[in-house]
Amino acid sequence: MAVHFTELGLVNTREMFKKAMAGKYAVPGYNFNNMEQLQAIITACVECNSPVILQISKGARQYANQTLLRYMVPGAVEMAREMGSNIPIALNLDHGDSFELVKSCVDSGFSNVMIDGSHLPYEENVALTKKVVDYAHPRDVTVEGELGVLAGIEEHVSSEVSHYTDPAQVEDFVGRTGVDSLAISIGTSHGAYKFKLKPGEPFPTLRFDILEEVERRLPGFPIVLHGASSVLKKYVDIINQYGGALEDAVGVPEDQVRRAAQSAVCKINIDSDGRLVMTAMIRKYLAENPKEFDPRKYLGYAREELKKMYISKCELLGSAGQA
Ligand code: G3H
Ligand code: 13P
Ligand code: ZN
Repeated sequence: MAVHFTELGLVNTREMFKKAMAGKYAVPGYNFNNMEQLQAIITACVECNSPVILQISKGARQYANQTLLRYMVPGAVEMAREMGSNIPIALNLDHGDSFELVKSCVDSGFSNVMIDGSHLPYEENVALTKKVVDYAHPRDVTVEGELGVLAGIEEHVSSEVSHYTDPAQVEDFVGRTGVDSLAISIGTSHGAYKFKLKPGEPFPTLRFDILEEVERRLPGFPIVLHGASSVLKKYVDIINQYGGALEDAVGVPEDQVRRAAQSAVCKINIDSDGRLVMTAMIRKYLAENPKEFDPRKYLGYAREELKKMYISKCELLGSAGQA
């Protein structure tokens, strides 16, 4: 039986983005796959009074079971309310790749859906995205589309096809599809290995010139930045200290994330930084407490650090205090 997102205490992203645009900050899009991540996200956003977009990927649905994950969300909303908080909470399908997947999410209570047709030829991306919008909008579910393929910033890396968003396409795409927000490619990529730096080489700068041209062509329109984890060195170092091997992990410097948040970018997606914190803390805890075998001990330890990291992200994005 279909359930509408309003029955789960959720909101879509329309109002969130209007406020973020006016206030020159970005709302975090935080991915979760399990209870501890969800608890850390909600308690962090309640504590720092930030709006939040919870994100579930196709992989998360497969890992945790789509029904279980979706039923955890109203529990998380209720938990926030019991903490005395009224922060706006949206639920987004991250990187939806088919109409059927999107439909299933809309019907089960998601308030925003991303349809990622960025790998398709342009006209196919337009057609698929428009089909999604035509299904979502009558149900008041907002839609994120994507133009340009996320990839490494170094063009000689042949396996990572570099395909920045072409600003000349954005008005046509938004006009013909009716999307509510648009993810663009300006040099970020997913995961913990975003740039290949030679020894001593400085971090590259994201293509803010493309972002500015998109803003000029779509005044006041909400832009989304994927692949925005900073791959915090503190946690990479802990992982490596306790038996890990993440030697060349590099992310987006925090000053560039802040710069993006102050622009028309209204939503910033962060997943990898949470994964790194969780892994670092679990490795550290188990190494220091070799006799421990209660998962609540090491997961609880990781959850506490995760909450702190999410609060500092909300501060970086400027969303803290804006709920
Ligand atoms: O965009 C990718 C997100 O980090 C989700 O990753 O597909 O491994 O769940 P995933
Ligand atoms: P990161 O891998 O940089 O955290 O990006 C996450 C993301 O874009 C989810 O859609
Ligand atoms: Zn993404």
